[in-house]
Amino acid sequence: MIADLTGKNALITGAANGLGKGIAQILAQQGACIIIADIDGNAAKLTADEFISLGYRAISLQMDVTNIDSVDTAVASAIDKVGHIDKLVNNAGVIGAPGWHERLEVTEEDWDFTFSVNVKGIVHVTDRIQGDMMKETKGSIVNIASVAGKMGNPDRPNYNASKAAAISYTKSSALKLAKFNINVNCICPGNIWTPMWDKISMRQFNFGSEIFSEFSDVENNRELFHKITELSTPLMRDQSAEDIGYAAAFLLSDSARNITGQAINVDGGRVMG
Ligand SMILES: NC(=O)c1ccc[n+]([C@@H]2O[C@H](COP(=O)([O-])OP(=O)(O)OC[C@H]3O[C@@H](n4cnc5c(N)ncnc54)[C@H](O)[C@@H]3O)[C@@H](O)[C@H]2O)c1
Repeated sequence: MIADLTGKNALITGAANGLGKGIAQILAQQGACIIIADIDGNAAKLTADEFISLGYRAISLQMDVTNIDSVDTAVASAIDKVGHIDKLVNNAGVIGAPGWHERLEVTEEDWDFTFSVNVKGIVHVTDRIQGDMMKETKGSIVNIASVAGKMGNPDRPNYNASKAAAISYTKSSALKLAKFNINVNCICPGNIWTPMWDKISMRQFNFGSEIFSEFSDVENNRELFHKITELSTPLMRDQSAEDIGYAAAFLLSDSARNITGQAINVDGGRVMG
């Protein structure tokens, strides 16, 4: 065990798949009851059932983080089932509007959609949950940003800008909630093979671009992902969803009670600072 979350209820958004599912798994291993919230309610239920079959405590919720009514309904249902929410991981995120991976250009719709999920989604869920945490004068929040938020990217400027906004919002939120004994941090992951990266690399593989032209000899998008990661990462390997889960578990635990407003990279050394 790396952090004791026994008896804590942890809500993770976008947890039906990918990184969110890995984070949920690690939090469950530390003793938390995990609340799997996802826009895809059926997938969230399947994921929660999988964890329950492994002996963990889990419930599922259908929640669209971009929609305040959906967030309100889902959180009320979670509180009804488990009593209160002690820990929040704002993980749900997108690269662009539906179909973004089938085009090279970034559209206005991509900008709006990315900000509505990656920035306003965090704000909506935090706004709904922080009130109860403030009343109890305890709680911890982790936002999943990205090292993209600390770098430029001519290929996906909307995504990088949204993650920079998530880092900035984390700091504002940490300042607002500090006097209520609530810490707020963000994790900046590097490269993890999830459905998201499957699409990113498929887009590059299918369309090519100046940035990745040196990888023209690769045979498929997964190989492209590994080449890009190896070349750009000092530790020369990708990260796993569990790696992000370990960092989240620590930041949500009492051991991290004096850490707030930080943006911690879990990226194999790609970005330092
Ligand atoms: N995969 C990586 O390498 C990587 C790197 C850095 C940061 N991140 C961030 O980690 C988070 C998870 O990424 P991932 O790779 O697992 O992505 P993913 O696309 O594989 O999974 C995202 C999950 O979020 C859910 N989701 C999407 N929109 C939602 C909404 N409006 N409301 C609720 N749920 C919604 C999806 O249904 C899905 O289950 C994102 O914020 C992403 O930006 C990922």
